[in-house]
Amino acid sequence: MGFCMKELCFAFLGIVLFHGLCSSEEGPNYSFIRQGTSAPAVSYYDYIIIGGGTAGCPLAATLSHNGTVLLLERGSSPYGNPNITSLSAFGRALSDPDPSSPSQRFISEDGVINARARVLGGGSCLNAGFYTRAAADYVRDAGWDGALVNESYGWVEKVVAFEPMMKQWQSAVRDGLLEAGVSPYNGFTYDHLVGTKIGGTIFDSQGRRHTAADLLTYANPTGLTVLLHASVRKILFRTKGKARPRAHAVVFSDASGNTHRAYLKDGPKNEILLSSGAIGSPQLLMLSGIGPADHLMAHNITPVLDQPLVGQGMSDNPMNAIFVPSPVPVEVSLIQVVGITPFGSYIEAASGENFAGDGGYRHDFGMFSPKIGQLSTVPPKQRTSVALSRAISAMEALDPVAFRGGFILEKIMGPISTGHLELRNKDPNDNPIVTFNYFKHPQDLQRCVDGLKVIETVIESKAFSQFRYDSLSLPTLINMTANAPVNMLPKHTNVSTSLEQFCKDTVMTIWHYHGGCQVGRVVDSEYRVLGVDALRVIDGSTFNYSPGTNPQATVMMLGRYMGVKILKERFGTDKLND
Ligand SMILES: Cc1cc2nc3c(=O)[nH]c(=O)nc-3n(C[C@H](O)[C@H](O)[C@H](O)COP(=O)(O)OP(=O)(O)OC[C@H]3O[C@@H](n4cnc5c(N)ncnc54)[C@H](O)[C@@H]3O)c2cc1C
Ligand SMILES: *[C@@H]1O[C@H](CO)[C@@H](O)[C@H](O)[C@H]1NC(C)=O
Ligand SMILES: *[C@@H]1O[C@H](CO)[C@@H](O)[C@H](O)[C@H]1NC(C)=O
Ligand SMILES: *[C@@H]1O[C@H](CO)[C@@H](O)[C@H](O)[C@H]1NC(C)=O
Ligand SMILES: *[C@@H]1O[C@H](CO)[C@@H](O)[C@H](O)[C@H]1NC(C)=O
Ligand SMILES: *[C@@H]1O[C@H](CO)[C@@H](O)[C@H](O)[C@H]1NC(C)=O
Ligand SMILES: *[C@@H]1O[C@H](CO)[C@@H](O)[C@H](O)[C@H]1NC(C)=O
Repeated sequence: MGFCMKELCFAFLGIVLFHGLCSSEEGPNYSFIRQGTSAPAVSYYDYIIIGGGTAGCPLAATLSHNGTVLLLERGSSPYGNPNITSLSAFGRALSDPDPSSPSQRFISEDGVINARARVLGGGSCLNAGFYTRAAADYVRDAGWDGALVNESYGWVEKVVAFEPMMKQWQSAVRDGLLEAGVSPYNGFTYDHLVGTKIGGTIFDSQGRRHTAADLLTYANPTGLTVLLHASVRKILFRTKGKARPRAHAVVFSDASGNTHRAYLKDGPKNEILLSSGAIGSPQLLMLSGIGPADHLMAHNITPVLDQPLVGQGMSDNPMNAIFVPSPVPVEVSLIQVVGITPFGSYIEAASGENFAGDGGYRHDFGMFSPKIGQLSTVPPKQRTSVALSRAISAMEALDPVAFRGGFILEKIMGPISTGHLELRNKDPNDNPIVTFNYFKHPQDLQRCVDGLKVIETVIESKAFSQFRYDSLSLPTLINMTANAPVNMLPKHTNVSTSLEQFCKDTVMTIWHYHGGCQVGRVVDSEYRVLGVDALRVIDGSTFNYSPGTNPQATVMMLGRYMGVKILKERFGTDKLND
């Protein structure tokens, strides 16, 4: 069956034309995508982009209009993989341990189980789909050009963003948030505004995911080469005498283990762009000799530049959630409604995780399933593989009625707490050592507690009453130790029902980790790596804190935005060929 059958194409002509995609199940027939194995041993380009993720795809599409571009992605294509393309399959890629899976699990030193993308389209192929812009003051503080930012968001939204179909449970959360005083109601909007709103989603009305890879429809096919299963091992620098090191080539290996080199063509404006994400970018800088010199030498890496700030400022926004069992059936929804409080807690919700979209039944908590590594019934450091399998078995043994309900979660702004990343070894495909220090800063903890109090009010609201059991108040919900299916207070030796303890014990990730190559520390305001030439970092690793309530819109925007800026610099003109 077609991704967009002819009939459907006509039926949805307006939408399809607007979104510029009418393609087969295998996705758009991109003539420029090839396997890494097909690459010559040596090749030459104006721009080499490392990482075909959420930022790398829009960046490549843009640059291809005025230069030759090589985009290197270590993973495979998202097209034709039902684990990625369907909303009801959420979590399948995240729970697939295969080394070729689009998701690579990593566990921070904090003990929270996390995931990083390994696929063309990056995190946008794995995520919960919520789409929302950064706040106006975030754009101002970043020093970005507001008009170009808006144009770039619009460019992204034309292809990947949709208005979600609101059903009863999400509507009850929305009305409950308003009753709880998270006001005004801002309706459906991509804008980040205090109050309650319905945000965008990258899932269309058919439940099909659109990803950053879809932004490659904007590319100039003759200017772009995309290589899959092309894993970059190292960026090479030219260091002539006392001159600044200049990036000029990359070494990558293909699926057969053969190595290739891609060089920048001669030209003062040609560059290498690192878009490998918040784990991959600082890791690859270090593997290439840019990082803390003593740490590099301990791994037998010759420093090109002693840069102690590479890998610093790593943060992950903590997520805590309450499962609210419902007396009545609820719809399947990922995040649609969001409450943006003035005190830096963001409230979101997901429901009906147990029903697969095909009408089948899954014994699964979706975004909160231990199958994908979400495990909040034991404190972080105790989330061993044994604990995980125990939780998966327990979940699968539950009576179907135990899954009826939804999760209301809170995520905190920022966060203020930061950590760091170090190399574990010299293999770019292995995870580095990452520490996030969740709730180290007391204000982060306070925001969690304040967010949980809002959730409590939502649960108790009139609007939400049909979706809760009156006997289950918040203190009861978080103290259902014995027979609780999920996400309740961990079974400590010291039972404490303080919300502070609950925050620390049940902390999970909402996968908004960022940092490691931050603006002002590792890159300048034009995203150029400080201390070297012809190298920029453009992705979520450059953020000082996470934009909006959820970052993907801004990551995609940044790829487009910087592509336009780079071409303007190249030609010293505002006229671009797109
Ligand atoms: C499960 C999950 C749910 C989420 N939910 C949401 C949500 O609902 N809304 C939202 O806004 N955000 C969400 N996010 C966050 C958002 O998706 C990420 O912040 C964003 O995708 C990060 O983009 P990036 O470009 O920085 O990195 P990525 O998209 O991860 O891109 C990095 C790319 O580089 C490639 N790469 C890395 N190293 C190398 C190498 N050495 N050689 C070649 N290629 C390499 C990777 O394979 C990857 O494709 C979620 C994330 C996850 C994982
Ligand atoms: C995809 O495009 C290529 C090259 O343009 C063409 O040879 C091929 O037949 C196309 N495939 C499909 C399924 O349309
Ligand atoms: C989808 O994910 C499941 C595990 O969740 C895995 O067994 C299966 O191979 C995956 N399918 C594809 C096409 O990757
Ligand atoms: C960008 O768009 C936002 C709304 O999304 C608006 O508030 C802002 O004024 C716009 N900025 C510019 C410079 O046009
Ligand atoms: C929590 O539940 C236990 C029994 O499961 C009970 O003994 C205890 O009093 C409860 N604590 C609170 C604060 O409700
Ligand atoms: C339990 O309480 C004891 C004594 O107060 C303390 O030493 C211990 O760290 C606590 N354990 C946890 C998991 O909080
Ligand atoms: C870049 O775009 C301009 C404007 O369309 C065009 O004149 C020029 O030839 C392009 N340059 C390259 C290298 O493609």
